[in-house]
Amino acid sequence: MIFLKTDEEIELMRISNDIVAHALAEVGKNVKPGITTLQLDKIAETFIRDNGANPSFLGYEGYTNSICTSVNDQVVHAIPSKYVLKEGDIISVDCGAEKSGFHGDSCYTFCVGEVSEEARQLLKTTRESLYEGIKFAVEGKRIGDVGHAIQTYCENRGYSVVHGMNGHGIGRSLHEEPRVPNYGKSGFGTKLKTGMVIAIEPMINLGNENIYFADDGWTAKTSDGKISAHFEHTVAIAKGQADILSSFKYIDEILENNVK
Ligand code: MF3
Ligand code: CO
Repeated sequence: MIFLKTDEEIELMRISNDIVAHALAEVGKNVKPGITTLQLDKIAETFIRDNGANPSFLGYEGYTNSICTSVNDQVVHAIPSKYVLKEGDIISVDCGAEKSGFHGDSCYTFCVGEVSEEARQLLKTTRESLYEGIKFAVEGKRIGDVGHAIQTYCENRGYSVVHGMNGHGIGRSLHEEPRVPNYGKSGFGTKLKTGMVIAIEPMINLGNENIYFADDGWTAKTSDGKISAHFEHTVAIAKGQADILSSFKYIDEILENNVK
């Protein structure tokens, strides 16, 4: 069952997502060689709690932390650890926050210092593909239109779309119906209507699409050991244009100030 949100509920979700957006920027400021992913987790958790919200991921199906920190060939859901970031790594930071009963969910892939041109291009394309998908997150379009847009954008540039891990509806629960795959057929799937809120989250591999799960039961990794990127926004379906509830603008501000 898909839970439609009222305008008031969407405003609450905008607040939760704004906390997530700021938390990701706080983490981004600290993404540098020498910091551990567990230190980044603490920064996010502290920021979320200081803003009167709860980390959505902590305790979710037994998950032990507030963010996922997926480095290089880790696709998604990597658990923060003593791993020390090094120059040239890429790190996907996925973050969720709940306030007033509603969740926000967003992910951004950061560069650690200077990264390869190959990595830079993968990040650029993955981020762009998210916005290609969002173009179809409007009343009257279908879930398949969103996935198709993401898939064609990435595959045309030589990348692979991870299958079996998807975006999702979001609201009072972190994961609600419908499932939002990053691939699909135009004109197929659930019809979108105003009041639906979905998290769109392309996970795109440099090499082939195959993944496996590490022994911790959470971390998804590429089978070929090549890097993977992940960007995510929570968006409310509306007429004509999607209403993007999360934001990368705070991240863009800090990165502009940092990158010379
Ligand atoms: N954005 C991720 C997802 O939707 C967040 C889940 S992490 C978990 O899959 F730890 F909460 F599972
Ligand atoms: Co999500």
